[in-house]
Amino acid sequence: MTIRVALGERSYDISIENGALDRAGELLAPYAARGRFIVVTDRNIVPNQLYRLESSLTAAGIACAVEVLPPGESTKSWAMLEKLTDAMLAYGVERNDTLIALGGGVIGDLVGFAASIVKRGCRFVQVPTTLLSQVDSSVGGKTAINSRAGKNLIGAFYQPVHVLIDPTTLDTLPIREVRAGYAEVVKYGLIDDPAFFAWCETNVRQLLGGASEARLEAIGKSVAAKARIVGEDERETSGRRALLNLGHTFGHALEAETGFSDRLLHGEAVAAGMALAFRFSAAQGLCSADDARRVTDHLAAAGLPTTLDAAGVDARGDALVAHMLHDKKMEGGRLPFLLARGIGQTFLDKQVDLAAVARFLDADRG
Ligand code: GLY
Repeated sequence: MTIRVALGERSYDISIENGALDRAGELLAPYAARGRFIVVTDRNIVPNQLYRLESSLTAAGIACAVEVLPPGESTKSWAMLEKLTDAMLAYGVERNDTLIALGGGVIGDLVGFAASIVKRGCRFVQVPTTLLSQVDSSVGGKTAINSRAGKNLIGAFYQPVHVLIDPTTLDTLPIREVRAGYAEVVKYGLIDDPAFFAWCETNVRQLLGGASEARLEAIGKSVAAKARIVGEDERETSGRRALLNLGHTFGHALEAETGFSDRLLHGEAVAAGMALAFRFSAAQGLCSADDARRVTDHLAAAGLPTTLDAAGVDARGDALVAHMLHDKKMEGGRLPFLLARGIGQTFLDKQVDLAAVARFLDADRG
């Protein structure tokens, strides 16, 4: 399956194929300037996926230099950016050369940002190996590192030249990570595709169980939705792309409260955040209680947290709202929220009363 992100001269294809890693030599050959790549990955990816990629490239006569970084969110740092950019320069990288980001969102975000700044921009390919990065972060060109002031605050919009998705990489992913990525799949149904949400309700078991057809369908539908929205609003200026942040404002507060740690994975925070956004919408009379319950029930059935308690958060509503105020989406002192009029009817509300959000959070805990 090939899906195109239509962005004029920055357009690119996303290939989704079981076993794509083993055909990377053939599929990525057009991007191997001077017959070589710089592959960047993390230590967790080495045993299962790096050798598949390297063998395929080598068999196709393509040389690759490999840079292995430590796993985890702390890799999205100035220190690792410096390490990577130094390594690229030591390899003698040229603007036409291509980096391959082999890994999850951390590797994709860091490599994309490094590619955007070294020699004022060289090329990069995303080869995402987690469900979350396959359905969300590898597509659309958001690249970043974290700073002391917060997550993803230093970065650039910089599109890859290709995204290569091999769903078989999920076979070795811990189930907790698969579930967390699944939250972002459900998100596309909730934003504007109620039929896809209904498909998720029917197929969640097969999908989380690793059934090939369900997995391809879920990834394909998600990536097509993301490609469409990015094509409409690449730099999040019209409000279209902001829809992709459904659940992220509530979720961000939960992640901040749990220290952006393994206590609550990003996708888990997004799941709880989406359930809270729907219940808040229902409490405001915007959407039906039935729709809010259906969303909560589905995410819970997928093994994802849907309440503050399930997310391991015992902070009061006003403390959680205080975290939200650090959101980089603040606009003129107000925080835009993604709310819903129903399943598949998400919209951006710039007039939300934060005191009402705090009261809702306390009441929702029950
Ligand atoms: N993950 C949200 C976006 O790419 O816009």
